[in-house]
Amino acid sequence: MTKKHIKDLKLNNKTVLVRVDFNVPLDENGNVANDKRIKAALPTIDYLIENEAKVILMSHLGRPKGERKQELSLKPVAEKLSEIMGKDIKFVNDCIGSEVETAVGKMQAGDIILLENTRFYAGEKKNDPDFARELAKPAELFVNDAFGTAHRKHASNVGVASILPSAMGFLIENELKYLRDSLTHPQKPFTAIFGGAKVSGKIELLERILEKADNLLIGGAMMFTFIRAMGYETGKSLVEEDKIDMAKNVMKLAEEKNVQLVIPEDTIIAKEPEKDAEIKTVSIEDIPQDWMGLDIGEKTIQKYKDVIADSKTIVWNGPMGMFEIDKFAKGTNEIAEILAESDATTIIGGGDSAAAIEKIELQDKFTHISTGGGASLEMLAGNELPGISIIPDA
Ligand code: 3PG
Repeated sequence: MTKKHIKDLKLNNKTVLVRVDFNVPLDENGNVANDKRIKAALPTIDYLIENEAKVILMSHLGRPKGERKQELSLKPVAEKLSEIMGKDIKFVNDCIGSEVETAVGKMQAGDIILLENTRFYAGEKKNDPDFARELAKPAELFVNDAFGTAHRKHASNVGVASILPSAMGFLIENELKYLRDSLTHPQKPFTAIFGGAKVSGKIELLERILEKADNLLIGGAMMFTFIRAMGYETGKSLVEEDKIDMAKNVMKLAEEKNVQLVIPEDTIIAKEPEKDAEIKTVSIEDIPQDWMGLDIGEKTIQKYKDVIADSKTIVWNGPMGMFEIDKFAKGTNEIAEILAESDATTIIGGGDSAAAIEKIELQDKFTHISTGGGASLEMLAGNELPGISIIPDA
């Protein structure tokens, strides 16, 4: 069932409250360090302006725990948005109350204001109905375009959507197209590549992906939990001892479902995860006691390359090693380069893999890079996202 879309709304001269995800990294001077999420919201903002709406943008930033924290103000984001759009964006120092009402009262069709961080109020994360009513008060319509926050049930996405006539924006539409629809009946062979530190957050996802995938390639620190499940020692590598049985279950399921599960054959090891550490490549059976695995090795990269070359749809989530340190970034970078050159449909779950791709400036070479971290994992696992479910059906 498709959800009500921004195009289904009559916007002319209407005051539209828009939930965007402007939870962006700030640098040490408090300026926006990465504007990807801001730019991703532009199709919806532009459409609203073209259709002569009055646009009230709202977002959270960081985790201020219900208190006003100046370092988590959205003011620098308003400045960045003004710069990107070449248009004056008025920043309002609050997200509810008289200051907002006054600012909205002065708006003309085509104006944009950005409200202060919704998480400065404890009612946001509690989805408090009174707080949601306050947020909704100055507006006539609500558009949710905050995909990155859609897995949260908060006042600014779920609460206001239960009060105002609501629709999804273009960014959410696009994320659904790739993370949900294109993976419902993926072109085969379908390969999933999963890395990152933890098996725990991804077990549901791994099991779900096994229903559809032809190949499942494992990398990142989570590979050591699998290597232990295979019965090998892993030295000082990161292992989730309590998830070894889950890893065994994934291996069993893969066999039952005839999915090729590929665990790395070799790994780059060091005594410490440091930039000037001595490194070696060893087979996964030979990790010495006082060393730790920090990346996939060359033989593994080669094997993954062969599988990717035969794939028509590829989804990737989680780096292959500790890519923040150059010495341990080779596996992640090479997988990114192989995917960037591939003719397959390439879909990247956001978060760390998206950051790794941006670091080597390959972001334009993929079919889709999600703006969501946790939200994209939930969606890939087939779970309902409360911020989207609450939008009425079209
Ligand atoms: C994100 O960056 O994943 C979203 O903005 C959600 O943020 P949160 O994990 O603090 O809820």
